[in-house]
Amino acid sequence: MKVLNFGSLNYDHVYEMEHFVVAKETISSIGYARHFGGKGLNQSIALAKAGMDVYHAGRVGNDGQDFIDYLNKYNVKTDYLIKDNNEATGHAIIQVCKGENCIILHGGSNQKIDAKQVEDTFDNFGSGDLLLVQNEISSMDLILKKAHEKGMRIAFNTAPMDSKIFTYPLELVDIFIVNEVEAQGLADSDSSDIDAIISKLQNKYADKEIVLTVGEKGAYFIKGSEVIHEDALKVVAVDTTAAGDTFTGFFLASYLVNGDAREALKLATKASAITVQGAGAAQSIPELKDIK
Ligand code: RIB
Repeated sequence: MKVLNFGSLNYDHVYEMEHFVVAKETISSIGYARHFGGKGLNQSIALAKAGMDVYHAGRVGNDGQDFIDYLNKYNVKTDYLIKDNNEATGHAIIQVCKGENCIILHGGSNQKIDAKQVEDTFDNFGSGDLLLVQNEISSMDLILKKAHEKGMRIAFNTAPMDSKIFTYPLELVDIFIVNEVEAQGLADSDSSDIDAIISKLQNKYADKEIVLTVGEKGAYFIKGSEVIHEDALKVVAVDTTAAGDTFTGFFLASYLVNGDAREALKLATKASAITVQGAGAAQSIPELKDIK
């Protein structure tokens, strides 16, 4: 089985802060670093570290050769990762404070994926393969339709959540991967109560598989009336960036191969508990051997 991850790549500019900047305020950071990131790239690295055969499709600028080298270093194939001559690679400005973060995204070349690139990407994929997408690139509707046409299974991590998601052909998705905020949006729930959200998701997406992460309250796998819960592990978080991406990559790698959702939740919980104890995005994702 091959995984085609059609996803974003960002230079993450990470500022360590004493507090998050607020309106009308100018403050200095107490630390700075630039890392490889983007939900797409992070999830490709997580999948590859978990042992999957991963192709990363996407778009960087002429400044983005480092991303290709980085992905190749972790055995992610980059045949469908192209360089855009007119647009710089996407970037994120990330403030980190007491283990929490807030992120500003600039899409750059991630938002230049067009119909031609989508058409050129899918030749090598078909039934038995998985398409994974997040919500940080353009042409999402075309990508979902093309994957469906090819008979691929489709996993959609709806992060970052916005109203555009409801313009995509969500009926083509097999597996949704959401956190509690995204789940509330996807379920169109007025209540933030997790049981209420789960019940709405079960009604609205009865034929889908849903992976729901709720931070310190653990994670759920939901399929119709079946609900499996796994507790979170108690660790001291240094930087939560890419925790969700790690969870997504390790859950899918385990679930796609073994079909056991409980085992997949356990592995993904351990992997993301390690990620939050390190700084940065992709660089904090553990190897399978470290988790074991
Ligand atoms: O999920 C973490 C990622 O979100 C960061 O690496 C940043 O680039 C944003 O895409």
